[in-house]
Amino acid sequence: MKKIALLYGTRFGGTTGIADKIAEVLTQRGFEVLIENVNNFEDFKKIFEKEYTGIILGSGIQVGEWTTKMKNFIKNYQKNIVKQDIKLGMFVSCGTAQNNEGIIKACKDYVDVFAQKLGLDPVITAAFGGIYDFSKKSKHGTIKKKILKSIVKKETPGKFDLDNINDFRNWYDIVSFAETFAENM
Ligand SMILES: Cc1cc2nc3c(=O)[nH]c(=O)nc-3n(C[C@H](O)[C@H](O)[C@H](O)COP(=O)(O)O)c2cc1C
Repeated sequence: MKKIALLYGTRFGGTTGIADKIAEVLTQRGFEVLIENVNNFEDFKKIFEKEYTGIILGSGIQVGEWTTKMKNFIKNYQKNIVKQDIKLGMFVSCGTAQNNEGIIKACKDYVDVFAQKLGLDPVITAAFGGIYDFSKKSKHGTIKKKILKSIVKKETPGKFDLDNINDFRNWYDIVSFAETFAENM
């Protein structure tokens, strides 16, 4: 059974659901999937003991950036990924990718340019919509919530519910990403 490692970074949990869905599809396709939130994972060396033939790396985006732990992991293990000829998939989850135009822009700015800078050559890249949580239970915090509200009000007036959760994750695109990655393995 082929093994795939799916490592992701999240600040507020939105990317967790995306990673879970990708893992579910790959498991249904007969792969053994190790799925880890890198915030709670240290044993990166294990992935490069030649057992994993595929790696998927993903992150939520904040102010244009992947999470620090994901960035550090990629920088530290870039050589292993390239040398061991591991099939690589990369994705982000972010606010920009809430419509077709935004998906193209986010995929280029946050994934393709990032991968190129780090000398990585993924077989598939994607940008999925994320979550803006303006509800009372939001983990964004008062200040971030206020800043975000003023940005979305200005950039996309009327598109957001400014008192509730806005979830732009497109499950069809997410499943499709997982299926295409499986076909490349
Ligand atoms: C403080 C803050 C800054 C953000 N900055 C960006 C950004 O620069 N570009 C973008 O497309 N989305 C941005 N977003 C939207 C997030 O990418 C989106 O909420 C995503 O679902 C976060 O994923 P996570 O919950 O896994 O961390 C931002 C969200 C917050 C709360």
